[in-house]
Amino acid sequence: MHLILLGAPGAGKGTQGALLTERYGIVRLSTGDLLRDAVREGTALGRDAKRYMDAGELVPDGVILGLVRDVMARVDTGVVFDGFPRTRAQAEGLTSLLEDLGRPLDAVVVVEVGDEELVRRIAGRRTCPECGATYNVHDQPTRVPGVCDVCGAEPRSRPDDAEETVRRRLSVYREQTAPLIDYYRASPTPVHVIDGARPVDEVAAELAGLLDQIRG
Ligand code: AP5
Repeated sequence: MHLILLGAPGAGKGTQGALLTERYGIVRLSTGDLLRDAVREGTALGRDAKRYMDAGELVPDGVILGLVRDVMARVDTGVVFDGFPRTRAQAEGLTSLLEDLGRPLDAVVVVEVGDEELVRRIAGRRTCPECGATYNVHDQPTRVPGVCDVCGAEPRSRPDDAEETVRRRLSVYREQTAPLIDYYRASPTPVHVIDGARPVDEVAAELAGLLDQIRG
């Protein structure tokens, strides 16, 4: 099973992707998480990527495709792509990579959420700098305020969640990533649009139904 979760910043791709991993054992391939790992480790790739991320811009396609190829070479189970592809070049790169590996793309799921809710979610998001667990001060707080439920570190706002950067990320999404919906609609891969503005468990239930349908 290979699935793309497509949606604007804050739509809930990471949240739903993590639930799919938990429930179905599908590997979640988040290019954002891979880049944040590289930034944390202080690698040359991480230092370079940070400049783009902090500005709300996309990291160059060649870097991203290299990261994805490395992961795909190691993984032989199903994969949910979270935050990838984000450009036409990345989508074409994924198509040829999956063809080379003989692994079909089963579905593209578009998670739709209005701008006002996206901004509210991102403003309330807190991410654990140690283990990457994600919370929200509005709807999904930590059990003990300021303490990660998983590892005990203090969850914080992501550096790219500052208001001006979020505005840029949203316009980059509209300009470069949203057109992929039509790109996939013109392809043989089915595209499903789900309403991501509902509570996490309702969105997860719809996604689970979709997965069961795809798996037959
Ligand atoms: P990335 O990490 O991929 O960020 P993003 O796509 O902007 O998405 P987010 O992580 O902001 O949101 P999400 O949809 O995962 O929502 P979440 O589940 O956290 O990318 C970051 C940067 O890295 C990019 O800007 C770019 O620079 C670079 N990059 C990454 N991939 C790249 C690529 N392929 N090409 C080039 N550059 C790349 O949820 C958000 C909040 O809402 C959380 O607090 C959560 O708890 C809450 N929430 C989730 N669902 C719900 C719900 N149903 N109801 C209420 N609250 C909810």
